[in-house]
Amino acid sequence: MNTRVLNEQRGKCLAGARGRVLEVGFGNGLNLKHYPPEVEEVVGVDPSSEAEKLARQEIQRCNFPVRVHTASAEALPFDAGSFDTVAVTWTLCTIPDAARALAEMKRVLKAEGRLHFVEHGLAPQPRVARWQHRLNGIQKALAGGCHLNRDIAALIAGAGFQLETLETYYVKGPPTHPHLYRGIAAPGG
Ligand SMILES: C[S@@+](CC[C@H](N)C(=O)[O-])C[C@H]1O[C@@H](n2cnc3c(N)ncnc32)[C@H](O)[C@@H]1O
Repeated sequence: MNTRVLNEQRGKCLAGARGRVLEVGFGNGLNLKHYPPEVEEVVGVDPSSEAEKLARQEIQRCNFPVRVHTASAEALPFDAGSFDTVAVTWTLCTIPDAARALAEMKRVLKAEGRLHFVEHGLAPQPRVARWQHRLNGIQKALAGGCHLNRDIAALIAGAGFQLETLETYYVKGPPTHPHLYRGIAAPGG
């Protein structure tokens, strides 16, 4: 996940993030160096209890506080309206109940807050999508529950977010995997 191509996507995704940030699916903390100066604090959430340890170096390099909680996105341990930004990168593919997780992200965002996302998912070309559906079971088994064929934009809109920006495109990689969705969404009413 620490490639030049993906890191470029991280920077683009996190541009405009600000204030108190919740990062869902914190992983190894690879996004930390891409947050802009307007970010005051990052709270990471990941079900893996190893996340904080694996991210230690990245956390030490930050000039803002970083806290990591061992928790699942489907039940975020935070009050409603407590974050200015929620960031999620290459994680909606893996969360078992992505719809519930998005409802939780919406709940913890302030009304004027924003969801920043970059994710891989279902491709618009029927030929590619057919392969994504065929290979989905294998991918899930081999890659920790990662789905190839989730329609990320539909999931985000389905949770009641309003998509303010959405770009979908391919990046270099295997044809089943690198169709990306990147954008910013408002929590709406
Ligand atoms: C492919 S990794 C991406 C990590 C990181 N966001 C990045 O961009 O490098 C997917 C992450 O989602 C996390 N994850 C899996 N299920 C989750 C859940 N229910 N809630 C939150 N995070 C979850 C995994 O532990 C893992 O860290």
